[in-house]
Amino acid sequence: MKKVQQHYDDVAEIYDDRYDRDQGRYYHAHIREQIASRLPKGGFLLDLGCGTGLFIRQYVADGGRAIGLDISPKMVAKGKERYRQSEFVVGTADVLPFCDGTFDAAASLLAFSYVPRPAAMLDEVYRILRPGGSLALCTLGHNVFTSAVPFIYQVGEKVGLKKVGVGDFDEHYYNEAEICDLLESAGFVDISTKRCSFAHLALRGPVFKAARLVEPFVEEKIPYLAYNLCASAKKPER
Ligand SMILES: C[S@@+](CC[C@H](N)C(=O)[O-])C[C@H]1O[C@@H](n2cnc3c(N)ncnc32)[C@H](O)[C@@H]1O
Repeated sequence: MKKVQQHYDDVAEIYDDRYDRDQGRYYHAHIREQIASRLPKGGFLLDLGCGTGLFIRQYVADGGRAIGLDISPKMVAKGKERYRQSEFVVGTADVLPFCDGTFDAAASLLAFSYVPRPAAMLDEVYRILRPGGSLALCTLGHNVFTSAVPFIYQVGEKVGLKKVGVGDFDEHYYNEAEICDLLESAGFVDISTKRCSFAHLALRGPVFKAARLVEPFVEEKIPYLAYNLCASAKKPER
């Protein structure tokens, strides 16, 4: 855990260069849309593993209120610096410093794969949501492309590559059944999953454009090739 925190502290300054510029902006916006479409607009949101607050910026612009929680103090500082109307707290997603039933919605983008106690995180999310509240998360899914990622990241770490997310963090890439089991065990209902993302930001110019063009087709017809996994669920009304 300390290692993930250290990594994101180290890359906090360059994080938005990756996800809020050029191809990265499109990539991240696509994920944000997937998550936003699964949550009520205008509610009170907790964003777990919020990073620099890119999803909070969108949720608040759409009329909601939000608090972000992240394990990296430097990422939290970046969020605070830019979105003064929202609160950002340092903490781990599996121990939440909030009262039962506080939030209408919870989101987590590109952070769930790092959480070492996913069942504890989902128990906590269930606790802090009000009855009928919604959770939507997007995390790297297991597929033919992502099975090579841990190895590539281990090599990246060995050669000292300072790139967002590159390191040996013992990440877990989920499949649909694992996520559904975890959500069900925590007590959630109306569980659904969908694969998303085919155009990866590391692809270059025309290749990225082509991947972007076929992305909706891949997500719909050959979802196994889409490498992120979105899941949404609700806390029962009573
Ligand atoms: C790839 S970034 C995603 C940030 C943000 N959600 C976004 O979409 O831009 C992953 C984030 O998860 C955070 N993180 C990793 N493990 C965590 C944990 N156990 N609890 C809370 N945050 C965590 C990292 O510090 C980092 O900011």
